[in-house]
Amino acid sequence: YPIDDFFGMGKAWVAFRHDDVVQILKDPRFLKNMRSLAPQQNEQKSFESNDSVSQIIEWLNNMPNMLTVDPPDHTRLRRLASKAFTPRMVEELRPRIQQIADELLDAVMEKGEMDLIADFAYPLPIIVISEMLGIPTADRNLFREWTHTLGNAALMPGREAEVAATFEEFTRYIKSMLADKRKHPGNDVTSKLVEAYDEGDKLNENELLSTIWLLITAGHETTVNLIGNGVLALLNHPDQLRLLQSDPSIIPTAVEELLRYVGPVIITSRVAGEDITMHGQEIRKGDMIVISLGGANLDPNKFANPEALDITREENEHLAFGKGIHLCLGAPLARLEAQIAFATLLGRLPDLHLAIEPEQLNYHLTTLRSLVSLPV
Ligand code: HEM
Repeated sequence: YPIDDFFGMGKAWVAFRHDDVVQILKDPRFLKNMRSLAPQQNEQKSFESNDSVSQIIEWLNNMPNMLTVDPPDHTRLRRLASKAFTPRMVEELRPRIQQIADELLDAVMEKGEMDLIADFAYPLPIIVISEMLGIPTADRNLFREWTHTLGNAALMPGREAEVAATFEEFTRYIKSMLADKRKHPGNDVTSKLVEAYDEGDKLNENELLSTIWLLITAGHETTVNLIGNGVLALLNHPDQLRLLQSDPSIIPTAVEELLRYVGPVIITSRVAGEDITMHGQEIRKGDMIVISLGGANLDPNKFANPEALDITREENEHLAFGKGIHLCLGAPLARLEAQIAFATLLGRLPDLHLAIEPEQLNYHLTTLRSLVSLPV
């Protein structure tokens, strides 16, 4: 579907059919990064603390990490980080994730009421990713504000000074953490990445900083919303909630259906690396393609009765984690976190229900499907 002018960025296309989205995400002619079209003219510059906010946003949007680059850099950056996210390594985290989930509920049990986002869905993945990266417990809350401010920098006109100050604080923190890990390496992902950096040319400093930023933000802004949106969807479908309570063995299937139905990442994008014809339409080199993962997940040509939440759905090739070479690296971790979160919530809170009227619910205005709070 063509768009004449996408937010002042020129011609764009929207893909929302399941087969088109899969085809685009697997086709190497569709690139992540405009820079791949003319790499020599666009060297990534280092961050300078006196950069303007638009330069900072530009820097954030073009940070050289696996999510923003194309092969061959993508292959190298993903290989380095993927060692920490193998299904086996993730499975080893199970007892610790369970313990965190239980402790978070212990802390609110007495109150009889909680904000499911602030008290449970948010801290759970943050504690997990912080421990994986070796971020000290006392510093975890710093990242909440930082990721929120920087992740939404483009949506914050008039708050340039705050964005710039936050970015400076964040870079200073990460640089000192890297120096610390270099001196006292631990068994964490950051130490492993520093080691790869020190071993030669495999990772430069910008890439190192940017990869850590990616892992922190991916770990902060996504699983929280799968848990929040998923609980809300179940509360809105009491028959499905009861079914899940009566048979917790279907939790893994239910999590896949919740990813399809209310997955956090609604859209992603690509750039046409050359002129391409699709469905008789001429996509020109440099055109942007907005990819509606949320739309593809509701495609009636792919899913029977797509608008129905069916936690026993068997055929479920949803695209909530994307597809192709950028397929979510954290998917095994996100799945495990969500499965433990739902099992623990349903097991310990059999009478879970909304504590506000549905029309009082608010969403953040971002590219994610993200609840501000969920009082239950
Ligand atoms: C990439 C979704 C959790 C790390 C992606 C992409 C999607 C996605 C759609 C691909 C974007 C594209 O192709 O343009 C999700 C969802 C999550 C989740 C729905 C939770 C429910 C996580 C977690 C981590 C993570 C917990 C790690 C801590 C990554 C990384 C990439 C990525 C590193 C880039 C992979 C690459 O470019 O090769 N994610 N994600 N994600 N995700 Fe996730």
